[in-house]
Amino acid sequence: MTTAHQEPPLSLYIHIPWCVAKCPYCDFHSLPRPGPLPEVPYVRAVLDDLARNHGILEGRTVESIFLGGGTPSLFSAAAIAEILEGAGRCATLARDCEITLEANPGTLESGRFRAFREAGVTRLSLGVQSLHDPALRALGRIHDARTAQSALEAAAAAGFRSFNVDLMYGLPEQTVAQALADVHGVLSVQPPHLSLYELTVEAHTAFAHKPPPLPAEDTRLAIEDAVTEAAGLAGYERYEVSAYARPGHRCVHNLNYWRFGDYLGLGSGAHSKLTDPAGVSRPVRMADPARYMADEDRVATCRRLSENDILFEFLLNALRLTEGFSEDLLRARTGHDLASLDGLWAQAVKQGLLQREPDRIRTTPLGRRFLDSLLADFLTNIDTVSAKAS
Ligand SMILES: C[S@@+](CC[C@H](N)C(=O)[O-])C[C@H]1O[C@@H](n2cnc3c(N)ncnc32)[C@H](O)[C@@H]1O
Ligand code: SF4
Repeated sequence: MTTAHQEPPLSLYIHIPWCVAKCPYCDFHSLPRPGPLPEVPYVRAVLDDLARNHGILEGRTVESIFLGGGTPSLFSAAAIAEILEGAGRCATLARDCEITLEANPGTLESGRFRAFREAGVTRLSLGVQSLHDPALRALGRIHDARTAQSALEAAAAAGFRSFNVDLMYGLPEQTVAQALADVHGVLSVQPPHLSLYELTVEAHTAFAHKPPPLPAEDTRLAIEDAVTEAAGLAGYERYEVSAYARPGHRCVHNLNYWRFGDYLGLGSGAHSKLTDPAGVSRPVRMADPARYMADEDRVATCRRLSENDILFEFLLNALRLTEGFSEDLLRARTGHDLASLDGLWAQAVKQGLLQREPDRIRTTPLGRRFLDSLLADFLTNIDTVSAKAS
């Protein structure tokens, strides 16, 4: 086995941490907005951060940019345009560079969609979550179903190259019929991409302290089967655990994460994954926006990954994809070939959780359902197996 130092494709992630209010299920780095947003100094800090890291971008092409949050759609289109112009000056952007902006329907008065498109955004990702008012209230969302529906219609009419809609299922007291109504409601505008997430109660969130009345296990499984089937029947390919796309509309940015590509993360709390001749590092930007804006050295921590970390993180990401991963990708990102790791997945193949093809590994539908426990087993066994492989 050799150290992985082939340069993978590179993306740019820009984090905008503020939201109108914190949703009780959310464990993303998001903060309630402090009155007026410090848009001007924040944009200045992001662009300064980018300029100081110019060396990372040299000789490489940026395949995608993702403005995530938090709620980036709280920023003006002029601020987004300034960030994108700065990125265009500092980096070589791919000709058809995908540029996504995450948007909350509660922040999108009419006219702003077109302004974001004119600022350079090519893909909108709309956090609808549900079209059922009681569910939206239980989720603490700032918008109701009517606002979400008009945001969907405006997104479809705004002329983006592509757009995504986030829906959550397994919501408090949700029935199969309600979950299906959400999917069909969203499908009425034919979004090119759908993300369907099962509601997870994350540690340290308001829901973890005061759990909501979630549907029983068998109802949750029935909801998952029903929404997956509805998306499939409507012509969406499930290409990742939660991601569904019409042909030609897979998310370039997220695919780069799942294929364990590189990304430079800017903005408060943003994570990066970067490959250099010595291996792979994971810098994390300061979480406090005030410190991020004030300091020149904005990196709070930077961890260098061990060979086993690299292998585990690769599996964690690539096994989310329906296509799994090829031997070529495994070798390029980790330095391992498939045969040297057969001991790691032999048991999972025998249990019908993984499918071993001559030059590819992928999860079976059963393996996708039990992906978390499959990965936990890998984590336990990885030291022994990769020591033998090296
Ligand atoms: C960072 S949020 C960005 C969107 C935007 N902030 C909003 O909420 O409208 C990305 C998506 O992750 C999903 N999500 C967040 N927390 C989740 C949780 N605990 N369980 C399931 N999905 C979650 C939601 O669908 C959300 O739209
Ligand atoms: S709006 Fe989005 S990022 Fe903000 S708290 Fe809610 S789910 Fe989290």
